[in-house]
Amino acid sequence: MMIAPLQDALDKDTLISVRGVKKFFPIYEGWKRREVATIKAVDDISFDIRKGETFGLVGESGSGKSSIARLILRAYDLTAGEILFRRESGEVVDITRLGDRDMRSIRREMQMIFQDPYSSLNPRMRLLDLVGEPLLIHGMGTPAEIKDRVAELLGLVGLRPEYVMRYPHAFSGGQRQRIGIARALALNPSFIAADEAVSALDVSVAAQNINLMQDLQEKLGLTYLFITHDLGMVEHISDRVGVMYLGRLMEVGPTDAMFEKPLHPYTEALLAAVPQPDPRGNRARKRVPLKGEIADAMNVPSGCPFHPRCPYADEACRKETPELRTVASGRQVRCHYAETLDLVGVSG
Ligand SMILES: Nc1ncnc2c1ncn2[C@@H]1O[C@H](COP(=O)(O)OP(=O)(O)OP(=O)(O)O)[C@@H](O)[C@H]1O
Ligand SMILES: [Mg+2]
Repeated sequence: MMIAPLQDALDKDTLISVRGVKKFFPIYEGWKRREVATIKAVDDISFDIRKGETFGLVGESGSGKSSIARLILRAYDLTAGEILFRRESGEVVDITRLGDRDMRSIRREMQMIFQDPYSSLNPRMRLLDLVGEPLLIHGMGTPAEIKDRVAELLGLVGLRPEYVMRYPHAFSGGQRQRIGIARALALNPSFIAADEAVSALDVSVAAQNINLMQDLQEKLGLTYLFITHDLGMVEHISDRVGVMYLGRLMEVGPTDAMFEKPLHPYTEALLAAVPQPDPRGNRARKRVPLKGEIADAMNVPSGCPFHPRCPYADEACRKETPELRTVASGRQVRCHYAETLDLVGVSG
């Protein structure tokens, strides 16, 4: 196998390393299917997810968050780059180059929690079959063992084990989300991608399920990729955050530091929309709201893609595309003026 050299390519405490990943979608027109444009859904993204952490991914609609999750779980093939994954066995693999058979066994270790708990659960299946299906598919246990395991999984997500014979319609949105979590946990994954997992739920129910996810993380040693457009949510659950705009990472860093003092004007603008308990606590500094619309993905602005909406942009921003770079604080940012701008966060 070609696995050995990869072992040293990954830091010991890193679970996933996304490196120079691109995903382009060609857009065709007419009956000849002429390629008229390309959407760069993910354009040269690199970041690491450490073992046991929650990495948040935020950004407006269309910024490429879901595409990243799909690339990591190999629901999409990528255009360029590599995605390294440390298996439970310690073996490091590049999941973008694995064949179907190897990928099948790795899928057990990576799971997804879906956005819409209503449409993602088959209404004609009992919880026993819904939660037990992955076990059945992977031939893990006799029917009696599977039933016991499902009851155990339901207990784990705070549902009564005797619910195994019920159908999903008997449950609320928050409970259905828990059923989805139980199903995701069935095969003992090490990594879970939650794509807008709680966005459809009421605030208090969402908060309960986030607390559940955090308890499970601690108990089972899980690593999360937590995707949301709600920065308030990310502040609560994520250890580190990546901020995406038009397929690019604009800023990556520890959540607390980023919320207190963002380094990218796009982050500052997103944070301006986060409700604050005491706005006067922010040293009475003016928050800068996000102006204008996200650009057309088929027609990304030259230079810094955020420059048409950026209150600080100048000629250099229109012409030169900034790279994602590490600044003195050890944080990463893609802005020419990260060192000189004094941006406003949420707790100030
Ligand atoms: N299968 C596809 N074919 C063509 N374009 C696609 C496809 N999937 C995604 N895109 C485009 O890629 C870009 C990124 O989409 P993606 O769904 O990853 O964004 P997102 O950040 O998850 O957005 P949202 O917050 O709305 O879920 C968008 O411009 C989208 O239209
Ligand atoms: Mg999405």
